[in-house]
Amino acid sequence: MHRWQTIVEPFRIHSVEPVEFTTVEQRTAWLEDAGHNLFALRADHVLIDLLTDSGTGAMSRDQWAAIQHGDESYAGSPSWYRFLDAVQNLFPFEHVIPTHQGRAAEKILFSVIGGPGKVVPNNTHFDTTRANVEYTGAEAVDLVIAEGRRPEVVHPFKGNMDVAALEELIAARGVQAIPAVFVTVTNNSGGGQPVSLANLRAVREVCDRHGLPLFLDACRFAENAWFIQEREEGQQGRPIVDIVRDMAALADGMTMSAKKDGMANIGGWLAMNDSTLAAQCRNLLILTEGFPTYGGLAGRDLEAIAQGLSEVVDSHYLRYRIRSTAYLADALDSSGVPVVKPAGGHAVYIDARALLPHIPPLEYPGHALATALYREGGIRGCEIGTVMFGRRPDGSEQPAAMDLVRLAIPRRTYTQSHIDYVVEVVRWVAGRADELRGLRIVDEPPALRHFTARFEPL
Ligand code: F0G
Repeated sequence: MHRWQTIVEPFRIHSVEPVEFTTVEQRTAWLEDAGHNLFALRADHVLIDLLTDSGTGAMSRDQWAAIQHGDESYAGSPSWYRFLDAVQNLFPFEHVIPTHQGRAAEKILFSVIGGPGKVVPNNTHFDTTRANVEYTGAEAVDLVIAEGRRPEVVHPFKGNMDVAALEELIAARGVQAIPAVFVTVTNNSGGGQPVSLANLRAVREVCDRHGLPLFLDACRFAENAWFIQEREEGQQGRPIVDIVRDMAALADGMTMSAKKDGMANIGGWLAMNDSTLAAQCRNLLILTEGFPTYGGLAGRDLEAIAQGLSEVVDSHYLRYRIRSTAYLADALDSSGVPVVKPAGGHAVYIDARALLPHIPPLEYPGHALATALYREGGIRGCEIGTVMFGRRPDGSEQPAAMDLVRLAIPRRTYTQSHIDYVVEVVRWVAGRADELRGLRIVDEPPALRHFTARFEPL
């Protein structure tokens, strides 16, 4: 037991950014102009921006200092070697291929291993991952455990893969159709929920038996490791770095967005042990991202990531990080707002389908709630539901498994009073839930429609 209960921010603020205060009338007009799509707003019209935790965190003094060491040599920059060492210190894969962000790693990998007739299992594909799989003509299948699809059910590792379902998929489709098995840590689309080491071992065992490679989508690996240390039997007190290495040792490769647990504003990588695959991926990298010692990144970005990787595995940071997310979830839960339980690592997910039972999924309850939070309080969250996942590759539209609104918490960026304000606004909107109406889509692109679709309130 610690003597003090308060978990303080493990930093002092050293440089500040002003936020803009706006009125309900202004925000109503801006929403109209944006076609009721929060991605189309100007960010300076947002007071508290919880759209994503990706690339929006505050970098540390030491990261900004590292940027000054950035060496912009086209090939073999010392910044590349610092980046490589920092990555391999945690994830000792033989080949590390830097990219400008996570989806570039996905695009390259699936261009090589995807294609028509292929099927990629994952606990839950994130939207860009699914889109990159499907773009090649392959099929993306989500195999999270049943608890992971039920917002109200408490389970310590709701991101776990359903191992029996994986076996069934392999039996039904055949090993030849499956180029790799993916596990996303933490499981973003399923609520930022962790995956246990035991589950990763069980998936590894299935992969070994069928000769299939296992890849991690490791964007939030440090948060996942923290949950393992907290919740998994026998893991208490183990260094986070060791848990991360255990996760890595169970996989054959990874995709990564350094905009999350890389603690950087941009960056990512693709890593693997298979040399033939790596050579194919590097050839594509040169085509679209850059030479293999910088990918799509400046030398200074490689430095910021290398430093960020040493900060993200710090237990004081992770304790604060996970607690501050739980603080928001607990406050909403105790006010009767339905949230995904237990709280995830990087975000709080409001169950809009439960809060707005009068709005059917195809009238987008998540989107209705997200737009209301912006209009009423200047808070920008993100629908993760039928707008994001409802359009199927065959062109039909179906309700997603859940209709959630994600309030993602940028790293080291907002204070407790910002979050107290968020709680107040959500409570206010939830208290008037029956006044909210659904929307219809008036214009949408063929893929990833949530980014650019335009809506009309019903
Ligand atoms: N995989 C997961 C699990 C993600 O959460 C993301 C991004 C990506 C891959 C793609 O990485 O953005 O660097 O290209 N998630 C962000 C989010 C965008 O808001 O959750 P990226």
